[in-house]
Parts: sequence; C-alpha cells; structure tokens
Amino acid sequence: MNSASTLLSCAIVFTIVARTLATTDSAYPSPYGVETTTTACNPYAIADDGLVPVRKEVYDKGRIFDISHRYHPNMPSWESEDGVGQFLWLPKSMKNGSLANNSEMKLPTHTGTHVDAPGHVFDHYFDAGFDVDTLDLEVLNGAALLVDVPRDKNITAEVMKSLSIPKGVRRVLFRTLNTDRRLMYTKEFDTSYVGFMKDGAQWLVDNTDVKLVGIDYLSVAAFADLIPAHLVFLEGREIILVEGLKLDDIQPGVYTVHCLPLRLLGAEGSPIRCILIK
Ligand SMILES: *[C@@H]1O[C@H](CO)[C@@H](O)[C@H](O)[C@H]1NC(C)=O
Ligand SMILES: *[C@@H]1O[C@H](CO)[C@@H](O)[C@H](O)[C@H]1NC(C)=O
Ligand SMILES: *[C@@H]1O[C@H](CO)[C@@H](O)[C@H](O)[C@H]1NC(C)=O
Repeated sequence: MNSASTLLSCAIVFTIVARTLATTDSAYPSPYGVETTTTACNPYAIADDGLVPVRKEVYDKGRIFDISHRYHPNMPSWESEDGVGQFLWLPKSMKNGSLANNSEMKLPTHTGTHVDAPGHVFDHYFDAGFDVDTLDLEVLNGAALLVDVPRDKNITAEVMKSLSIPKGVRRVLFRTLNTDRRLMYTKEFDTSYVGFMKDGAQWLVDNTDVKLVGIDYLSVAAFADLIPAHLVFLEGREIILVEGLKLDDIQPGVYTVHCLPLRLLGAEGSPIRCILIK
C-alpha cells in the first residue's frame, strides 16, 4: 500500500467511527464476534477502550446478508490495473479547524456493486433520460433466487436452459466462478471473468420472467460479448442489471432482495446497496 492509500483508509476509518458514535447506544460495541477492521492506522483500536468499529457481512444471526462490496482504493475498476485508486478526500477536517469532518468523493458510477440503466448502452435512451432515477424499485426489491451456474462455461443459452429457472421467477442472482476466483477482491481488472454471452442473454429474455439480473463481477456480459449482451438485456427497458455483487458464503435458494440505487439524475449507472434477507 502506498502512503496515499494508507492515509485514505485512515480517513475512512475516522469517518465511520465518527458516524457510528453519533448514532449508537451505550451498548455499542457488542460482542458480535464478526470481523472488525483494526488497521495499524486506526488509533482508536489501540488507544481508546471500546472504540473499535464493527464491520459485518451478516446481520441478525444469519438472517440478513450484505451483498454489496465495501468501497476502497484497491477494489477492481473497469480495465484498470491499479484498482479504483483514491476516490475520497477530506477537504474539511476537525484536525485543521473545521467544526466537523466532511469528506468528498469522486467515483466512476459503475464502480463496485452497482446498477446499469438503459442509457448505458443506448444513446437515444440516454438522451431521453432513462437514467438510474427511472429504475423500478419494485423490480429491485422482492423475492429473488440465488443460483450457482456451472463453473466451466460462460452463461450461454445452453447454460441458461440447464438452470431450469421456473416461470414466475423475476429476480435472479447468478453466482459464478468469479466468486470462487475472488475477482472482486482482486485489484487488477480481469477480462476472463464469467458473464452472459449474447445467446444466454437472449434466452433469458425470451424464455423467463426474470427482470432483475445480478452477477458477481463488474459486468453481467462476458468481455467477449460485452456490448451485444448488454444490448439484449437493456433494449426492452424492463430488465435491471446489478453488477459486482458479493455472493460469498450464502446458500443458493430463495430470499428477499433489497437493492437501492442513488437518485443520480442523468447518470446511466449508480453505486447500489443490496442486501438479501432469509
Ligand atoms: C484542511 O486539510 C485538508 C486536507 O489535509 C486540506 O485540503 C484543506 O485545505 C485544509 N483546510 C484548511 C483551512 O487548512
Ligand atoms: C474527525 O472527527 C473526529 C471527532 O469526531 C476528530 O477527533 C478527528 O480529528 C477528525 N478526523 C480528522 C481526520 O480530522
Ligand atoms: C468466459 O469468457 C471469457 C471471455 O469473455 C474467457 O476469457 C473465459 O475463459 C470464459 N470463461 C469460461 C469459464 O469459459
């Protein structure tokens, strides 16, 4: 880690500590026994009793799963060898006299766990305003199926057929080899990720009722069919694509999904927070 990114992770820790303090009750922190971040640059972990932020992937005794990735400088970014890099700054800090800490961020909208709107690959939809603010919250929230796809292929029509997704299923999260390979935890962008081939996307559109398609790397479409598969999915403006999901350590099956994009007027992509509830 270079010094800039070390500084940045410190800033993130500071911000989260400050927010947690403002909203928590006296019982905090409880002995959850789950992963906490105690970076060397977090003085609270060493200096102050009890001031250790708790970071969790699972809440309420295994009922609620956070399926969004944490944003940090080393997370992969589209076609970048060096990850996202610094995206957060602290222009106003209490350390140098401000009344409060106020961070600023600059981030490609298709970073980390994020959603695509129709304007992403159709210029006339972009011009007409089909941005992330127009996405249907009903599609983004409701019963969802988490499925494992075969690990030796991209998602072709044949693979889609073999999954036998029942009619009526409207939201599917596809877990692939990308999760096994931990690609979302790998800084360098990897074009060999698994995604939909054009014929797989077409099969889904023609033969299922699926309107929410989720996947575990930065694109639902395989690199080899990047634009063709996106075009098939987004042309009808009914299907919503959620990319970069964190699907580790969850049993396949039926859940309730909740995904909420930011209301970024004019943007064809947005970071999104998604959770699964058992
Ligand atoms: C406070 O610190 C930040 C970051 O170190 C810097 O960008 C900013 O200009 C400083 N502000 C003042 C008023 O010194
Ligand atoms: C942020 O706020 C805390 C108090 O909540 C303060 O102690 C700390 O110095 C601030 N962090 C920075 C980096 O200025
Ligand atoms: C999926 O397609 C990519 C090209 O987009 C290729 O590099 C990769 O090997 C394929 N994965 C599998 C498991 O066939």
